[in-house]
Amino acid sequence: MSRLIVVSNRVSPPVAQGASSQGGLAMAISAALREYSGVWFGWSGQSTPHYTGQISMHRVNGVTVATIDLEEQDIDEYYNGYANRTLWPLFHYRIDLTQYERSYGAGYERVNARFADVLAPLIEPGDVVWVQDYHLIPLARELRARGVKNAIGFFLHIPWPARELILTLPRHRQLVESLFHYDVVGFHTEEWKNAFNSYVLYEAGGMQLTDGRVRAFGRMVRPQAFPIGIDPGAFVNLKRSAAGQESYERIIESKGGRKMLLGVDRLDYSKGIDERLLAYDRLLTENHELKREIFLLQISTATRSEVEAYQDMFAKLDALSGRINGAHAEMDWIPIRNVHRVHSREELAGIYRAADVALVTPLRDGMNLVAKEFVAAQDEADPGVLVLSRFAGAAAQMKDALIVNPFSQEDVADAIKKALAMPPAERRTRWRALMDGVEKDDIVAWRDNFVAALHAARNEGAERPRPRIAAARGEG
Ligand code: G6P
Repeated sequence: MSRLIVVSNRVSPPVAQGASSQGGLAMAISAALREYSGVWFGWSGQSTPHYTGQISMHRVNGVTVATIDLEEQDIDEYYNGYANRTLWPLFHYRIDLTQYERSYGAGYERVNARFADVLAPLIEPGDVVWVQDYHLIPLARELRARGVKNAIGFFLHIPWPARELILTLPRHRQLVESLFHYDVVGFHTEEWKNAFNSYVLYEAGGMQLTDGRVRAFGRMVRPQAFPIGIDPGAFVNLKRSAAGQESYERIIESKGGRKMLLGVDRLDYSKGIDERLLAYDRLLTENHELKREIFLLQISTATRSEVEAYQDMFAKLDALSGRINGAHAEMDWIPIRNVHRVHSREELAGIYRAADVALVTPLRDGMNLVAKEFVAAQDEADPGVLVLSRFAGAAAQMKDALIVNPFSQEDVADAIKKALAMPPAERRTRWRALMDGVEKDDIVAWRDNFVAALHAARNEGAERPRPRIAAARGEG
């Protein structure tokens, strides 16, 4: 049987089946690897004074985990540099924050080549390789250069930017061309896929085939949307666990009969947390009767603290929430609970369950799984309401949420009011439709659809030689 080899920047070693300390994605990948007896390869998260390429392998719960250490310069130029100072802001439409440094690009190429050096000898004929996310876009090109002929797929967990934006990236053509060394390139939504195709057709002079594949740069690839999901059953178990039940009860008690709005985010500028707080401020200013009746629990956790764009975010968030609290608080009521602590997945499930309204209002997001986890954690008889940004990939699927424009304070404030006043019957109807979608498009469907597409691509490749076709126009 062919093995599955998953490659990602971060590797989360599998834990016992059903254990909950792993995130949803990590659990799904571990399960896929167990099923296909695979290997999970990536960066250990550790630095080494001098790069050795030494691979550390161990077997955990039926999955082989293979990691390498990187040297400081690699981490700085590849991870903090090109991945998180260049691609992340650019792909989230923030060209004002994007840094275009040649050294970052060089470090990114170097680390991808190093990954390929170590990985290529581990790949056996018949294996399929699944590369995850924006850190590793050039990996297939590097593997092909080392003679790897296997099916290789790529999945992008963040948005693909509009063509006009990616043109600001020096050597954008090289980046896109490297995706043509994959057999399948996956996106969360049709929108991100169409943005990619738009570049291929109108910038790279490529063309689209009737079967959905695109040709450019003398190669062919299959771009396809695979919306990622969660494991709703596992999430229900989390909320029922002792820690989940305890955090639920703690919140219910501390609510004191008030309604709770909830935000849960990595403290990232793409998440629209300041904009959310300003919308809430406006709601309180314009609706005095809501004061004392509601509060907002905003949980924001630290992320990527080496990158400047993240460094003043806590100070700004704390100042803003402090200002709003000062302006509206009363001696026995505070409008915002601003929390930085990291919670376990069990605790989070209990918190989601106790919330009346979830505010998932990113300015731009590949998918957003908080939206799906919030839905999965609700109690059927008395579910909370999801307020969801139209700019999250999740909005394409979760049409029964209250969809908002997170840039408009009025729009968000109106949606919160509507959510607070929503009759129980409507809450239940909307929740049922959302939950049906979360159950149908779950993490297993995502994984199996991608792996099936990759196997199909391999068979396509086996039946006839890989076509090398000159692009239709614009290539020079
Ligand atoms: C996003 C990315 C992931 C990344 C995660 C956390 O979800 O798509 O690839 O792992 O953020 O970011 P970090 O930089 O801590 O890995």
